[in-house]
Amino acid sequence: MMISKMRTNFHSLPLLLFALYLLWGKCRSDPDPLQDYCVANNNNNFFINGVPCINPKEVSASHFATSALSKPGNTSNTFGFAVTPTNTVNLPGLNTLGLVLVRVDIEADGVIPPHSHPRASEVTTCLKGQLLVGFIDTSGRVFTQNLRPGESFVFPKGLIHFLYNRDSKEPVLALSGLNSQNPGAQVASVATFASKPPILNAILAKAFQISAQEVEIIRQKLEG
Ligand SMILES: *[C@@H]1O[C@H](CO)[C@@H](O)[C@H](O)[C@H]1NC(C)=O
Repeated sequence: MMISKMRTNFHSLPLLLFALYLLWGKCRSDPDPLQDYCVANNNNNFFINGVPCINPKEVSASHFATSALSKPGNTSNTFGFAVTPTNTVNLPGLNTLGLVLVRVDIEADGVIPPHSHPRASEVTTCLKGQLLVGFIDTSGRVFTQNLRPGESFVFPKGLIHFLYNRDSKEPVLALSGLNSQNPGAQVASVATFASKPPILNAILAKAFQISAQEVEIIRQKLEG
C-alpha cells in the first residue's frame, strides 16, 4: 500500500513540476533588464528580442519623456476609436522595461471592437465620459463594467476584450497601461475577415455559420 502510493507520487512529480513551471511562467511580464536602462537605438536594421540600446553616456532626460499622449488620436474610422501608444520610438527610455502607456479616444457610440493582446494584461482608467468595458474568459463567461471618470478595470493577458462609449454625445478619454513593451493587438473581426491574403470564404462561412455571400459583405465592410 505504502509502496504503491509512493510510486504514484513519484510518477506525478514531473507533472507537478511542469504545472509549477507553467504557473511561475504566467506570473512574469517581459524579461527583466540587466542594466538600469537600455534607451532604444532606433537607427539599425537588425532584429533582436527588443531594441538595442544607445551608449549610456549619450542618454538624456528627454529619452524618458514624451508628449505622444497629449493630443487626441483621429477617431474618423469604421469603429470610431483611436489608440495612441507610447513605444520605443516616441519614448526610447521604456525599452526593456516591460510596459507601455496608451491613450484611448473613443467618439460617441464608438467601440474598440473585441480584440486581444497576446503579450500583456491591461489596466484601463476612464478619465472622461461613460465607458463600458468587458472581457470574455476561455469558458465563454463575460465580465463587464460601466466605468465613470476615475474608475479602472483590468483585462487579463490574452483574453478577448472590448471598450464601448455608451454615450451618444460625449467622447471617451481613457488611459491604459500594459505590461509589455510590445503587447501586440489582434482585432477578432479584422484578423479573421480582413487578413492578407484572405482566408478561404468556406472556412469563415462554416466558422460563423453564415453564407459565402455574407462573408464577402463583411469582408468588404472591414477592408473598406
Ligand atoms: C482623420 O482621418 C480621416 C480619415 O482617414 C481623414 O480624412 C482626416 O483628414 C483626419 N483628420 C485629421 C485631423 O487628421
